[in-house]
Amino acid sequence: MPSVPAAPTAPVIGHRGAAGLAPENTAASFRTAARLGVRWVECDAQLTADGLAVVIHDDTLDRTTDGSGPVRTATLAAIRRLDAGSWSSPAFRGEKVPTLREVLDLTAALGLSLNLELKLAERAGPAEEDALAAACLAELASGPRPPRLLVSSFRREALARCAERAPDLPRAFLAADGDAEAVRVAVALGCRALNVAAGAVDRHLVRRAHAAGLAVLAYTVDDPERFRLLRSLGVAAVFSDHPERLTTPPGPHR
Ligand code: G3P
Ligand code: CA
Repeated sequence: MPSVPAAPTAPVIGHRGAAGLAPENTAASFRTAARLGVRWVECDAQLTADGLAVVIHDDTLDRTTDGSGPVRTATLAAIRRLDAGSWSSPAFRGEKVPTLREVLDLTAALGLSLNLELKLAERAGPAEEDALAAACLAELASGPRPPRLLVSSFRREALARCAERAPDLPRAFLAADGDAEAVRVAVALGCRALNVAAGAVDRHLVRRAHAAGLAVLAYTVDDPERFRLLRSLGVAAVFSDHPERLTTPPGPHR
């Protein structure tokens, strides 16, 4: 019986901050997560036209700001003029799309550990994966950092570039299905964890991942029953838009 790999996170990770309670990936969302007592949060980083890392999920500005068009063709100055809060609620009017630097500063100040997802548009090629990895690692090296970090991506090249440039930074491979191939890729990339869609998790997947030395993290889980079931299967942590709904088991949360 293989030993269970140590989880690089606490059992509940606030997804995009606390995306069910505040506009995702904004300062308000990360502050909300901290107020709930969450110890880890997740965010999505992408590059602007001028090569700066900003924290936003979609590859266009349309859904979560009052702007439109691809993130990748907008300058940081243009993105900073946008309102990233009103779409969620008038109470959040004036929230900005944060830079990765701002999120690192904020999470460090709040004592929140961070799962930084390197997010790339489907059409993005290896050069863009490399550029995003380089920009994010430069930010991590340039100032305050959260207490603990996990870098994740659906994109292999981005993780491979992180492995080359910052081999000691824990990595996770993101996969929608978590089949044997995903486990193989995660191991080949030197990852500590396999981050999988919750619907794809079963005991076979968890067993296979653990046998390969990988912790399993599942997204996105807001239902306490589902959380308990996944934990009983050996899932180390879940990403949740509503961390306040999940009862964390006793034990250290870092
Ligand atoms: O990292 C887990 C989860 O955030 C991955 O999916 O689409 O929410 O970025 P998505
Ligand atoms: Ca994400």
